[in-house]
Amino acid sequence: MLIKGPGSPGLCEKLGEDSGIGVTTERFPDGEIYVRLNGDVSGEDCVLVQTTHPNDHLLELMFILDALRDNGARTVTAVVPYFGYSRQDKAFKEGEGVSSRAIARMISSYADRFLTIDIHGERILDFFDIPSTNLTALDLLMEYSMGFEPDLFLAPDEGAKERVNSCSRGFGVPWDHLEKTRIDGSTVEIKPKEMDVQGMTVVILDDIISTGGTMIEASKQLYDMGAEEVHAGCTHGLFTGGSWKRLEKHFDSVFCTDTIEKGRCEVSVAPLLEELL
Ligand code: R5P
Repeated sequence: MLIKGPGSPGLCEKLGEDSGIGVTTERFPDGEIYVRLNGDVSGEDCVLVQTTHPNDHLLELMFILDALRDNGARTVTAVVPYFGYSRQDKAFKEGEGVSSRAIARMISSYADRFLTIDIHGERILDFFDIPSTNLTALDLLMEYSMGFEPDLFLAPDEGAKERVNSCSRGFGVPWDHLEKTRIDGSTVEIKPKEMDVQGMTVVILDDIISTGGTMIEASKQLYDMGAEEVHAGCTHGLFTGGSWKRLEKHFDSVFCTDTIEKGRCEVSVAPLLEELL
């Protein structure tokens, strides 16, 4: 039984237009969250699809998992299209909390299985005490990008390098990568690199766009080097602080999937999840 999480309404509709049950959510005057399952789940194998951004959706996820258990679901699979806090996957400084581990532990205490898409680092899966799976939406993003007739797929940093490398082969498009250094939460530096992109259409692909700083730095270099068209695609479009508008000025197009339902979401991850359901 599909449980349509309130954080992923569009995606859930695609997955189960005429099936599954929804979840009612309300806010109390003080902002606290109320959830209620809109159907009987007792004895069912339940698949909850619920993203975790912004924070309220993370709390809803916990409360819905608790309600599924309390109402007798036989098994619970937590499908979390965007697993938030994934960039805090270790204590970078003494005393820091490892947020992604805390969330993994909470999910493990309720669910039987966990599934996500393009998690920032596969190592986070080790934090789960239940079987956990990471799928990639990169093939879907590349398929969409083929409409631009790309000459090159580009990973903006080392982290995205392997992902782009392994998928680009299937499309017969060459790939390359840049080297990024993060200065702080909203500033990045990208090392200048000799690349022949003169007159080319380049598609930069990353797992997350947040402030847009990474993508914008990369696009500046590409245009400086003579690229004809530059497009930016990502799995998780956080578009923090309205970065969407800034990005549009620096790219021929910007596109993302529906793991977070902000903006247009040109590419749906539904085909990846349909098989599971
Ligand atoms: C970081 O390693 C991620 O893969 C993304 O590159 C990063 O989160 C993008 O953030 P921003 O859009 O703020 O530069």
